[in-house]
Amino acid sequence: MSDADAALMEASLIAVADAGIDIRHALFERFFAAHPERRESFISVDAASRRMTDETLQMIFGLAKGEGWVWPLVAELVFTHRSYGALPIAEYDAFIDMTVAQLGLAAGPAWSEDSALAWRQHADALKTMIRKARAEWATAMPAGAPQIA
Ligand code: HEM
Repeated sequence: MSDADAALMEASLIAVADAGIDIRHALFERFFAAHPERRESFISVDAASRRMTDETLQMIFGLAKGEGWVWPLVAELVFTHRSYGALPIAEYDAFIDMTVAQLGLAAGPAWSEDSALAWRQHADALKTMIRKARAEWATAMPAGAPQIA
């Protein structure tokens, strides 16, 4: 948790909002360009892209602020995503990295080395938390757990 990181991160979120840029469109194009086989997992890209983008940003920002709700939300996310097929951990990592990268592109002059570092550090914490959730589900509920790797 870091107040300085959270302030930098909030400034980039505000810059993107002020610029009126909805990063989900470019983000999902980029994700499907890297993982074309995943497109058919989505029934509604329009519906899912809103929530996946918002919630990924909220979780990363929440981790910077030390919010206690992030862990239960991540545990739930990992479990509900079982319904969408076997999602490799590398695709979670890629989605998270691409979310931060698209935010940076949209933030323009509000993006700095420091804000990039803050986002990346807490994005890495989210990746670690997703791994922990997958491992804990595998221990707690081996029959129905999401895959670990
Ligand atoms: C931290 C990362 C992620 C978050 C916060 C997240 C969040 C969500 C949420 C909230 C939904 C429900 C959307 C709705 O029904 O309105 C959803 C759906 C979905 N997510 Fe994610 N997600 C993440 C990563 C991923 C990754 C990496 C993949 C694929 C590799 C993925 C694949 C899907 C699919 C296939 C759906 C169903 C969409 C549909 O039925 O149209 N998600 N996600």
